[in-house]
Order: sequence, then C-alpha cells, then structure tokens
Amino acid sequence: MLDRRKFIKNTSVISTLPFLPSFSFLKTSKKMIRTAHIGVGGMGKSDLKDTASHKNVKVSALCDVDSVALDEAGKLFPYAKKYKDYRLLFKEMSEDIDAVIVSAPDHTHAPASILAMKNNKHVYCQKPLTHNVYEAREMRKLAEEKNLITQMGIQVHSFYDYKLATLLIQSGLIGKVSTVRAWSPKNWGYDGPKYTGTDDIPEKLDWNLWLGTASERPYKEKIYHPGMWRKLVDFGCGTLGDMGVHIFDTPYNALELDVPLTIKNKCRKFNNYAFPEKNFVEYDFPGTKYTTEKLKWIWEDGKGAPKKHKDLKLPHNDKLPLQGAMFIGENGKKLLLPHFMELPKFIDNGKYVEYNISNFIKNGHLSKVPIRDYDGEAHLHYHQFIDACLGKDECSAPFSYSAKLTETILLGVIAGRFSGKTLNWDSSSAKFKETEANKYLSRTYRNF
Ligand SMILES: NC(=O)c1ccc[n+]([C@@H]2O[C@H](COP(=O)([O-])OP(=O)(O)OC[C@H]3O[C@@H](n4cnc5c(N)ncnc54)[C@H](O)[C@@H]3O)[C@@H](O)[C@H]2O)c1
Repeated sequence: MLDRRKFIKNTSVISTLPFLPSFSFLKTSKKMIRTAHIGVGGMGKSDLKDTASHKNVKVSALCDVDSVALDEAGKLFPYAKKYKDYRLLFKEMSEDIDAVIVSAPDHTHAPASILAMKNNKHVYCQKPLTHNVYEAREMRKLAEEKNLITQMGIQVHSFYDYKLATLLIQSGLIGKVSTVRAWSPKNWGYDGPKYTGTDDIPEKLDWNLWLGTASERPYKEKIYHPGMWRKLVDFGCGTLGDMGVHIFDTPYNALELDVPLTIKNKCRKFNNYAFPEKNFVEYDFPGTKYTTEKLKWIWEDGKGAPKKHKDLKLPHNDKLPLQGAMFIGENGKKLLLPHFMELPKFIDNGKYVEYNISNFIKNGHLSKVPIRDYDGEAHLHYHQFIDACLGKDECSAPFSYSAKLTETILLGVIAGRFSGKTLNWDSSSAKFKETEANKYLSRTYRNF
C-alpha cells in the first residue's frame, strides 16, 4: 500500500498514452460531475476526499457494507444518498450519477466497475484493477466499447519523479534497458495454518455483501475486514498485486511493455488459501524500442527483500531505498527509482552522475521543481479523472493501459501456484501453454 497522503506535485500533464476520444464526454457539457463512491472506509475515504476536492464534483451517493464507515463518510457529505448494496445504488440512482469511484477490496473491483460501466458511468477503480485476468480483459473491453473515461488508482502516474524517470529512460540516458529489478519488503502473504472457527459478525457489517461474488465462508475477526483480505487468495492479490502494481507501473509505462512471454515465481508451496510471504518473480517481455531484444523484470517481496545483488550495489555502499526499482542498461548504466518521494538517481561506472532535466522542463513536460507537499498534492490523479470526465484532460492510467499492467502482475501471482516452474503466456489466446494454469485465469461468481 502506498502511504495515502504522500503525493508529489506536478502541475504539468504528460502522457505517453494515446488519446482516446470519448463519446461520453464529447456529448457532455456538464459543469458538475456527480459521483458515487463504492467503499468509503480505508483508502476509499482518501479517494472520496481527494475526488471531492475538485470544484466540479458533487458527491451524490456513498456505498459501504460497513455502517460505521458509511456513517462517517455520510457526515462529510450529508446530502449524498447512502447505500450498503451497490446494486441497489445503480437501480435507484443510475440517472443521477456520472462517475463511480470503486475503492472496495480487490475481489469486488470488477463486479462493481462492470456494473457501473454497463450503466454508462465513467469509472475510477483502485489498483490492482481486478482480481483475475479474465476480469481485466472484460473491464478493458467494456470501457472501450462504451467509450468511457477510466482511471486506475495508481497515483504514481501523477508523481513528478515517476514522470521524470519515464522521460529519462525514453531519452536514452542509460541506453537500451535489459533488466529491471524491483522490490518491496512488505508482506501481504501468510504462511501459517488456515484460520478455523467462526466469530459473531459485527452488527455494523453485512458479511454477505462484503463477500459479494466470492464463495461463502464463516466470518473471523481481524482476518478479512478491514485490509487483511489482501493476504488471502479469494479476495486479494498478495504483495505483488498490492505493491508490484505501483512499483512496476513506471518501468511498464516508460519501456512501453506489453504482456510478458514467460513468468516464473519462486515461493513456498502454494496452498490455495493465503499468498506466500516471500516471492521472487522473473518475467521475460518481448523487446521494445527502449529495451534490448528481451526485457527481464525481477520482482522480490517479503521480509529481507531484496537479496544482495551486484545490479543493486550503490555508490559509496549507500543503502538501497526500502522499496523501488532499478533500471539496468545494456552497457551497465543504471537508473534507480526509489518508491517514492525521491528523484531518480543516474549511476554510471559505479558513480552517481548528475543529469540535466532542463530540456524536459523547456518542453513543458515537467514543472520546474518537484514540490513535495503531500497533503496539498494528493488530489492530482483524481482531478485528472474528473477533468477528463469534463472533457478538459485525458487520463494517464485508463483501463486500456492499466488492464494490461494488471494482467502482467496477475500472471506473476498465478505463477506462485507453480513455484519454480516457467509458465509460457500466449496473449492472443489469453492462455498459458501449461494448461493446468489456465483454470486460475478466472473464477466462478457466487450469486449473492
Ligand atoms: N492506491 C493506493 O495507494 C492504495 C492504498 C491503499 C489501498 N488501495 C486499494 O484500495 C482498495 C481498498 O483497500 P483498503 O486498504 O482501503 O481496504 P479496507 O478493507 O481497509 O477498506 C475497504 C472498504 O470497502 C468497504 N467494502 C468492502 N466490500 C464492499 C462492497 N461490496 N461494497 C461497498 N463497500 C465495500 C469496506 O467496508 C471498507 O470500508 C484495494 O483495492 C486496495 O488495493 C490503494
């Protein structure tokens, strides 16, 4: 998880993504965007505040399965209608909302967002976009078919340092990139025994609605809600899904990668219940104009990550940032991108080397200096979405981009089920060559 309030200012708008003209906003000359928020506790509360800080937003509906979270949000926006079931929200208020912000746990992203898009609503959905590959493809397809404005909640796209890193890589600073190493010592896995027993469902929580399309199971305190669901296979996507999607976003974007050819995850034996506490994942991607013939991405997570490696050695034996990514050029030059709130560092011949960003500033790509005013800048990614709904901007992480990034991440999560085995992915048929892995590309929804 990113620290929610830590954002960087970058007043300029750049995007390496193609502009998608939107029928929906072209036909719109609205002054106000009426929003509905699904999940308003945890990150949803930040999402709500940051979206609502746009002067053209009217918060019209709030939805949460936890009545305490719902009431707290309701105090902030007393005129918004409150719901605990998002299906009822769409039934009753479809005509009264323009955009939906989905901030519920991962397994509910697609069911809620797809319903929103079927109702022709623009969607801002938290990361990772979906819980499985099939859903990611469906989300992308539907957004395209309906020509809706979409954005995934990876705020890094609006961070100065990340935009700068993209420009530096694409300017050829370190030459063609052969490898990216990325790491996070966070642990959204669990190697212990399966939780058993059952606790009373708190009065404030509608457990059936929280489970949503996932299979039924008894409620246990502190195991699922709030936040802990990330560790469990039926609801979250482990550390790779949680942090990998943030940290790999910039390499993925800067190198213009597509989905990978092969994926291998070394972790403990999978138990179909909780994600492994440590993962070492290797991806091979087809080359692009910014990479060597193939690009290798190595991801490490869990306690102690990353292991020592010569590629990660810093000048003066400096300590690596806690989380981050290292781009390695074919000629040994490197770019370190800490996650986050630090400028990328260029390393050549074992030394830090200054680089000149004035060209990018001249071209209007970057503001002069990163203004690290976290609270003041937390809204950028959200405002971009709202401005796009108003026809004044374009989103930098639309589903056309973020569904592929999410698919990539989820393939690494699936590879964890086959520790040490290389899986071969065929993007055109959306299937693994190893047929035993294909059943994990989607899941059966429960009627709830
Ligand atoms: N971009 C970021 O930096 C960032 C940071 C944290 C979390 N996230 C993402 O935000 C999402 C939520 O994470 P969190 O940490 O806030 O989880 P959480 O469990 O703390 O909060 C989720 C909220 O959604 C509500 N909810 C659950 N099911 C719901 C449903 N069916 N309908 C309506 N509301 C429902 C819960 O009651 C709770 O209020 C996740 O996808 C996570 O990956 C993103």
